Amino acid sequence: MSGIKICGVGHYAPPKLMTNADLEKIVDTSDEWITSRTGIKTRHHCETETHSDMCREAAKMALRKAGVKPEEIGVCIVATLSSDFLAPSAACLVQRDLGLRNDTVCFDLNGACSGFLFAIHTMECMLAASPRKYGLVLGAEMLSRFINWEDRSTCVLFGDAAGAAVVEWSEDYESIHALLGCEGDSEMLGVTGAGHKDLPQIFMQGQSVFKFAVTAVPWCIDEVLKRNGKTVDDVDFFVFHQANTRIIDLAVKKYHIPEEKYYKNISKYGNTSAASIPMVLSELSELGKIGSGSHIMMVGFGGGRTWGAALAEFK
Ligand code: ACO
Repeated sequence: MSGIKICGVGHYAPPKLMTNADLEKIVDTSDEWITSRTGIKTRHHCETETHSDMCREAAKMALRKAGVKPEEIGVCIVATLSSDFLAPSAACLVQRDLGLRNDTVCFDLNGACSGFLFAIHTMECMLAASPRKYGLVLGAEMLSRFINWEDRSTCVLFGDAAGAAVVEWSEDYESIHALLGCEGDSEMLGVTGAGHKDLPQIFMQGQSVFKFAVTAVPWCIDEVLKRNGKTVDDVDFFVFHQANTRIIDLAVKKYHIPEEKYYKNISKYGNTSAASIPMVLSELSELGKIGSGSHIMMVGFGGGRTWGAALAEFK
């Protein structure tokens, strides 16, 4: 047996709020349409803040909550597709800003909206080979920079934020039993890159995402529970990627998950992609809803038709 436990979590969202009323002034939309279709009321957008500012603040909070010093970190992974630079990585900037040791393994990972799950699984594997047992995992996005303001179906969805978790590896801890995958798609949802002439922009086939998500989310929950001989009752809290309130509602209905066992913050932050799962973890910790000994299940899905789920325990 070996695995990780979560020791501390943190988050940061820039102060500038974009309300649905603000968006009504930019595109042909309405508060009623956005709220009823997505559950989003506001989202935070960076003004002067950078992606690395958000990472630094979320990471500092997670370290403080964990009672872990920067020099105790052995690996730092940032799940992102919207960092300040294509190179250097966001994780390199975290190393600089927090004063992590220069032999800390720092790199970014792109798993789209499922990125935090890919990153925490990678962290569990890498800490097994690290001389230091603590790892820092972030999910951070500044997707406001890639919004196509002429596409009303996507410009209302996304917000900027960062979430972070400090994890501890031990031979005595159970694995997070991550289940991850993708279906190699480049059309359903994404952000254009070097293969395109124009500046990067978000694109999405909303209904395809919806259909994919309402299949992938329950499948992930089923598989992780089944493979580990657990039931919904063994999980204290379900932490869903916050893409759309209706997708979460369908999953909780299917599994009869009671209201006190899940949380939605999409109305405040919109879809923050890789940041959404650690943002939820950190808010839940702040609210005292999860803490030492809590067993959680995290579930996500996203661009590339990536999907994933993992179990974790709070130390
Ligand atoms: N305001 C007003 N009308 C709008 C808006 C808007 N912001 N966006 C689209 N519409 C219109 C469309 O133009 C269309 O009008 P038409 O019938 O005249 O052509 C109408 O609304 C219906 O459009 P649909 O795309 O069919 O709308 P739908 O009911 O499917 O809702 C939505 C769109 C909310 C995007 C939905 O498909 C959905 O929830 N998809 C899941 C996508 C998602 O969650 N994405 C998040 C990112 S993905 C991730 O995190 C992994």
